[in-house]
Amino acid sequence: MSGPVLADRPANVPAERVVDFDVYDPAGVADGFHEAFLALQAPGVPDLVWTPRNEGHWIVTRSELMTRIFPDSGAYSNRIIVIPKSVGEQHQMLPTTLDPPNHAAYRSLLQAGLAPPPNLAREDLIRRTANGLIDAFIHDGACNFTTAYAEQLPIRIFLGIVDLPLEDAPKLKLWSDQIVHPDGTMTYAEAEGHFHAYLWPHIEARLAGDGTDLLSVMVRGQVDGRPLSRPEMLSLCMQALLGGLDTIVNFLGFVFLFLARNPDHRRQLVAQPERISAAVEELLRRFPVVNVAREVRADVVCDGMLLKAGDVVMLSTALAGTDERAMSCPMDVDFNRRAGGHLAFGKGIHFCPGAHLARTEVRITLEEWLKRIPDFALAPGALITFRSGIVGTVDRLPLVWPV
Ligand code: HEM
Repeated sequence: MSGPVLADRPANVPAERVVDFDVYDPAGVADGFHEAFLALQAPGVPDLVWTPRNEGHWIVTRSELMTRIFPDSGAYSNRIIVIPKSVGEQHQMLPTTLDPPNHAAYRSLLQAGLAPPPNLAREDLIRRTANGLIDAFIHDGACNFTTAYAEQLPIRIFLGIVDLPLEDAPKLKLWSDQIVHPDGTMTYAEAEGHFHAYLWPHIEARLAGDGTDLLSVMVRGQVDGRPLSRPEMLSLCMQALLGGLDTIVNFLGFVFLFLARNPDHRRQLVAQPERISAAVEELLRRFPVVNVAREVRADVVCDGMLLKAGDVVMLSTALAGTDERAMSCPMDVDFNRRAGGHLAFGKGIHFCPGAHLARTEVRITLEEWLKRIPDFALAPGALITFRSGIVGTVDRLPLVWPV
């Protein structure tokens, strides 16, 4: 994503606030996604720094400042949530890139469609799907967790919620990857074009039907007493797909990598499965995966710096989880820690509407997996590599267990 060109330092950025940090390719990321961001919390690094990479933008390095900026839609707009800004300009998606008062009506359509059904049907579906996936490899004593499980479960559940065919998962993943971790083979506009061409026939069918899936609820909804326009429908549906396809996949990767490397933690959950819900919160605290931006609405002073209207500020949730000013020993996972208040799902009006679904999928995965495969480890010699992007990634996770 980032080119070799470095932006010139603007007049409002003092030299001592400049760091060389590429959010898409931070130094050392192949060895650890969260660890690569720690350079921004080294002694002496201010709470707000500026990097010339990706067209030049600010980065918040500490949890306290991030907690204030996330919900402050008055000063910081969601118009730009992706860097570089020139790409963020194209990435206009409902409801995420809207501010108050326009955001609320679109958000409520999304929330209505995502709300869990009043019975336990969705939990049952997740549990059955998880066990079906585990059935396929449990007797092998080995799997690549990323492709055999993490990339399978959330997509199967999500395609059920939006009522799209399971066999479309690979192409949806390909386009989503090119937006979330672009490798230069497809522009943002091309990936968006594929999504739109794919989605429109499905949307038309839902407009004529009476389905209760997420896409039907959204496209038949109304905003300000009028039906949605075609671009609004496409945008809302594409955002729901993007939000649901990549985030849980990668969070699960970090969770299983941690449990493979830390048998004591794993044994705690095997022995006391009733602690799994609280453990999921601590794991969300320690392994947030999302990098999201904001655009400064009007000149504002922040951490003693003058931020100019139009400046872009990066909120890397990874840094909220590793801040030793916000908690003691932040790199340690402690299932007894009271992990409330983490920023893994953001904060304020854009707080992740998929949080309940994500928590449920991770909890049920841990419950079912640890019951059936309590004792697992990294495959001997496995080389684990990571990437950064709008979502942090564990590339491949080969696991083994006794059979
Ligand atoms: C572990 C899994 C997940 C993580 C870590 C995560 C993280 C986040 C974060 C940090 C935000 C805030 C963005 C901002 O402030 O601009 C967000 C928003 C959002 N997420 Fe998630 N998410 C997850 C799962 C999901 C799922 C399963 C969906 C499915 C629909 C989803 C859909 C969305 C949408 C549509 C928004 C934008 C909401 C708005 O702007 O009002 N997310 N997510």
